[in-house]
Amino acid sequence: MADNPTARARALIAQMTLAEKAGQLSQAFAVPFLPPVDDRVAAGELGSLLFVTDPARINQLQRLAVEHSRLGIPLLFGFDVIHGLRTIFPVPLGMAASFDPELVEQAQAAAAAEARASGIHWAFAPMVDIARDPRWGRIVEGAGEDPHLGSQMAAAQVRGLQGPHIGTPGRVLAGPKHFLGYGAAPGGRDYEPVSLSDAEIRNVYLPPFAAALAAGAGNVMSAYMDLNQVPAVASKGLLDDLLRSELGFEGFVVSDANGVENQVAQHFAPDSAEAAALALIAGNDMEMALGPNAFAHLPALVEQGRVPADVLDRAVERVLVAKIRLGLFENPYVDEAAAAQVLATPAHRALAQMAAERSLVLLQNDGALPLAPGAAKRVAVIGPLADSIADTLGPWVFVPDKAETITVARGISERLAGLAQVDTAAGVQLLRAFPSGLEAFGGKVTPWSADDAANQFDRAVAAAQAADQVILVLGEAQSQSGERASAADLRLPGDQMHLLDAVLATGKPVVLVLLAGRPLDLTGITGRVPAILMAWYPGTRGGAAVAAALFGDVNPGGKLPVTWPRSVGQVPIHYARARTHTPDRADSLYHDLESTPLFPFGHGLSYTQFDFAPPQLDRPVLERGGAVTLTTRVRNSGSRSGDVVVQLYTHQRAGRAMRPDRELKGFQRVTLAAGESRDISFRIDGDMLSYWHAGERCTVLDPGLFDLWVGPDATADLHIGLQVN
Ligand code: BGC
Repeated sequence: MADNPTARARALIAQMTLAEKAGQLSQAFAVPFLPPVDDRVAAGELGSLLFVTDPARINQLQRLAVEHSRLGIPLLFGFDVIHGLRTIFPVPLGMAASFDPELVEQAQAAAAAEARASGIHWAFAPMVDIARDPRWGRIVEGAGEDPHLGSQMAAAQVRGLQGPHIGTPGRVLAGPKHFLGYGAAPGGRDYEPVSLSDAEIRNVYLPPFAAALAAGAGNVMSAYMDLNQVPAVASKGLLDDLLRSELGFEGFVVSDANGVENQVAQHFAPDSAEAAALALIAGNDMEMALGPNAFAHLPALVEQGRVPADVLDRAVERVLVAKIRLGLFENPYVDEAAAAQVLATPAHRALAQMAAERSLVLLQNDGALPLAPGAAKRVAVIGPLADSIADTLGPWVFVPDKAETITVARGISERLAGLAQVDTAAGVQLLRAFPSGLEAFGGKVTPWSADDAANQFDRAVAAAQAADQVILVLGEAQSQSGERASAADLRLPGDQMHLLDAVLATGKPVVLVLLAGRPLDLTGITGRVPAILMAWYPGTRGGAAVAAALFGDVNPGGKLPVTWPRSVGQVPIHYARARTHTPDRADSLYHDLESTPLFPFGHGLSYTQFDFAPPQLDRPVLERGGAVTLTTRVRNSGSRSGDVVVQLYTHQRAGRAMRPDRELKGFQRVTLAAGESRDISFRIDGDMLSYWHAGERCTVLDPGLFDLWVGPDATADLHIGLQVN
């Protein structure tokens, strides 16, 4: 029986009271600003806790569960391990810009090791919501707009977090979230009700979840908002039918924080008891709650016949099976003395630096970059994000290694030690108002007085004036990105444009580094600065990575995982749109703005150049069930080594549905030495060219002519046709 988790769970369930069962399905936040959870744990009222990161506290709480609760069932500790725990990696959108799933897997494996060594068993990650509207603050947490890239990143993260199987030593349970459609928030407004057609659900929003499940994810988090008029947390169609029956998910589903109770606020459920019944019956197994758990009503609901006893037992079984698989019954405690050896090791820091380097996207460059180290004797690093630890790390960071965090200013100072004098000035402040109750999550800044503000501004301009080279570091504060951080305006927040104007007015050479969790409106900037490097929120070693790129020690090779709009008026925007009946007039979508984005999906420059040879197919026809191989030769025609991401896009010319104008179906990031050429191949089969059809309600492949393009971004123009029979 020891080898059979289900049998073992059932044996335990046979001994449990209804209240103990409800307890296993109840999860609470263990944070200082909420009521203590200790007594509830000892009473068997809680099966899981979140937000504890201190190994000693984890053991203390675990002892209450194991030694004091009647059945001694260990607690499951979960946490938002989104892009690292102590060692912070770039935010997920930045990691996606690496177009390097292997690196993403390694980074999440390191994050998992740090989490597990702290006593955390489960990460509320990856966030795999497709996002096509940069106003939505949580675009930063995912892999961007594209289902194929999103699927690759989702699977890589699950492999990294969880390892080859649930219970792999040094790894944690992975929980892709938020099921389903959260990223389609209209207007980018967080938590807003979402309407999506079945075809959009199947072809765009579902694939990254399917990929995460195929990689073995043991948990899924349901979403807050209503999808097509039913809160996702209460949707049997989404959870029991689509996720479980159709996708075959066998793990457990957790609600989002307070998602069960929220149905009352959403005016969907009349009261918490009904909310609990709806959520459990729909397919949630565990309730994450900020206040009292609505699932505490489950015993009464079962007694009243409103919730079938076997539905309750099934949920308990799923939770217990996860605990058994994770080995918690054998090893409930964490080795407190050993934790420190795993946290923030030099190897993790080195990996974080590599990840940051590979996530950098060189948006534009007229040759100003790379800078020659030492060529300028005085360098000014200016901007509110230049020397801010929190803004180097980004959102969803709670217990980082601050002392080891290298800001851009520090990275540049260290790189230029002995070569140049480096001055730093913030110039302006980035402030945001916090929703009440959320101040504790950090990022709150004490505003400068009017005098201080004037002095700081003047000091920054004077630093620019005195310098031979200015590096501006602008963008968004970490508190302006993430959950509850949607933006109606994508221009640089605060007084940053004034600072930029004043610095440019000095006439000194300027390059711009952007730190942000979303594409920003660069109107009035791109034409005035020669070079722009997008650094996202680059993490613990971010400043060292940025300095290495600015001074040419590394050659940027990251690519945009999102289309970069010219202004907020173009959003939502993404490249994979279907055609209109006037495709030739696509340049006049707006009468007052160009139709093309500022930078296309997949864009990113390098300090070298790459040439692509026209693609070739090993055979001109794809027979059903078969495969063809497309090959293109890529050459580094510049004078230094660099990375290129070879991208494959496809399009069907005619069929039973209008398909996107082009869709990313393959990518490979390769490093080529100066002058080196390499043949890059993609295998193309029917699965790659098929899609879910709304009328047929299944996946279909339409025979006919397909366009294939390869190139360095979504505007790739090297084309070859493929006949599919
Ligand atoms: C977020 C989740 C997160 C949870 C716990 C929620 O507000 O939507 O993504 O995992 O909080 O922090």
